[in-house]
Amino acid sequence: MTEIAFFLNGTPVRLTDVPPTRTLLDWLREERGLTGTKEGCNEGDCGACTVMVTDDTGARALNACILFLPQLHGKALRTIEGIAAPDGTLHPVQEAMITHHGAQCGFCTPGFIVSMATAHLNGRSDHDDSLAGNLCRCTGYAPIIRAAEAAQTAPVPDWMRADRQALAALPILSTEILTGGQPSGAIGPRPMADGGSQPPGDAFRPQTADDLAHWYAAHPGATLIAGATDVGLWVTKSLRDLSPVAFIAGVKDLRGVTVSGQEIRIGAMTTMAALGPAIAPHHPDFAELIRRFASVQVRNAATLGGNIANGSPIGDSPPALIALGATLHLRRGDARRSIPIEDFFLDYGKQDRGPGEFVEAVSIPRQPDRLRCYKLSKRFDQDISAVCGCFSITVKDGLVQSARIAFGGMAGIPKRAAAVEAALLGQPWTEATVAAAHAAFARDFTPLSDMRASARYRLRAAENMLTRYYLEDTGTPARVLEVTP
Ligand SMILES: Cc1cc2nc3c(=O)[nH]c(=O)nc-3n(C[C@H](O)[C@H](O)[C@H](O)COP(=O)(O)OP(=O)(O)OC[C@H]3O[C@@H](n4cnc5c(N)ncnc54)[C@H](O)[C@@H]3O)c2cc1C
Ligand code: FES
Ligand code: FES
Repeated sequence: MTEIAFFLNGTPVRLTDVPPTRTLLDWLREERGLTGTKEGCNEGDCGACTVMVTDDTGARALNACILFLPQLHGKALRTIEGIAAPDGTLHPVQEAMITHHGAQCGFCTPGFIVSMATAHLNGRSDHDDSLAGNLCRCTGYAPIIRAAEAAQTAPVPDWMRADRQALAALPILSTEILTGGQPSGAIGPRPMADGGSQPPGDAFRPQTADDLAHWYAAHPGATLIAGATDVGLWVTKSLRDLSPVAFIAGVKDLRGVTVSGQEIRIGAMTTMAALGPAIAPHHPDFAELIRRFASVQVRNAATLGGNIANGSPIGDSPPALIALGATLHLRRGDARRSIPIEDFFLDYGKQDRGPGEFVEAVSIPRQPDRLRCYKLSKRFDQDISAVCGCFSITVKDGLVQSARIAFGGMAGIPKRAAAVEAALLGQPWTEATVAAAHAAFARDFTPLSDMRASARYRLRAAENMLTRYYLEDTGTPARVLEVTP
């Protein structure tokens, strides 16, 4: 049980005895009667439960079904009930949805409206991207996109800017909860004698990496929750009891991207939404891969650390990071170690991470950009990869000088294609070399057949990705979405 304070549609809320893994969606609907926020999939896929959450980084659309109440602590929440003005004046996106016939049954509409209003507030006009996480089964997307376009030049209503101002008052409102009675007014955890911040059984909310390191070393059986885009499903779908838990997304010194002459260092708590624009100038294909990662709502919560630590064989960032020769930085208490990221993934469900050890950061060596990433999924947007191949191949004097190639979806772990790399190294960079290297894929990988793809399809797709890299590198356009008549 834990105590939290936040704003709900402009009104301060203070809750005590909050079960740490109570989802926001259940609380809104069951305890507050705010049933405008809908439950569709309850696993982050459909966007029917979209809410707007504002904190010191700005306003973001998030899925309430995989957001735990303690994650709202110190933030401002706006649900569909708070998108129109208090006097009932509609938001411009609501007006536009009516004018452009953007709803039929209306089940998806609250989620769409909240996504649209958040994008409108943030000045986004990339409607295909910002609405990719909202599914509609009956209206069709064209009227909805037309509504978003029609509203995009309307001024942001005053009430939509109120949350940032209200947040400034939140620490004063509940100083005791937020600061543990410290006079500074900074949002922080309540200090505890053993170096943690909450009594045992509560949700721990570390503010610094040091806090986290010491607490986790003392509580190695605890569950770390970063964005909860994986962990949320353990609760909503697997009904797991996760206690004790630590909510670590607020650890500011684990957030952000730092670029030096030698490396690009990415803190584990950097969200996918923040990583995309930060990595784009250096490795645009990595940024494009991130644009295809889930949806805006999921990218706004999902962290890079979570995407690595979960050890998923179909996580999208590990193949890119392996191809870039990244190093993973781990910490337990005051002990730190760094390993090549490919060595972290030992076997299906098994990673090189000891009890009480967590991911602090990843660093990518600075290098000329040779990275290309190809994500193959059944749907273009908001889908997990069937196969994700990332390639970084350098050529000198017509010969392959270096090759780093990694795949997701081809083995029980994200895995480097060592035999394919060996088949390319030192060879002329020609179509014949690439064709000959195809045979090496079967030495590197024995993929599974599952609902996403058959083993044979996966192997052939992976071979073709190498051919595609070669074609693009030698000037033949191969991106189907870029082909024009
Ligand atoms: C609808 C939907 C679509 C998705 N689409 C994609 C996709 O396209 N591509 C993709 O790769 N993934 C996808 N995912 C999976 C998920 O979003 C990612 O794996 C995400 O990066 C997990 O990050 P998180 O911060 O939410 O992790 P959490 O769910 O908070 O944690 C995941 C795991 O990592 C551990 N953990 C988190 N941070 C750390 C740390 N710093 N140190 C040690 N352990 C840690 C947790 O304890 C837990 O075991 C999708 C998920 C959903 C719900
Ligand atoms: S209910 Fe489908 S994303 Fe939350
Ligand atoms: S209007 Fe019916 S699902 Fe979108």
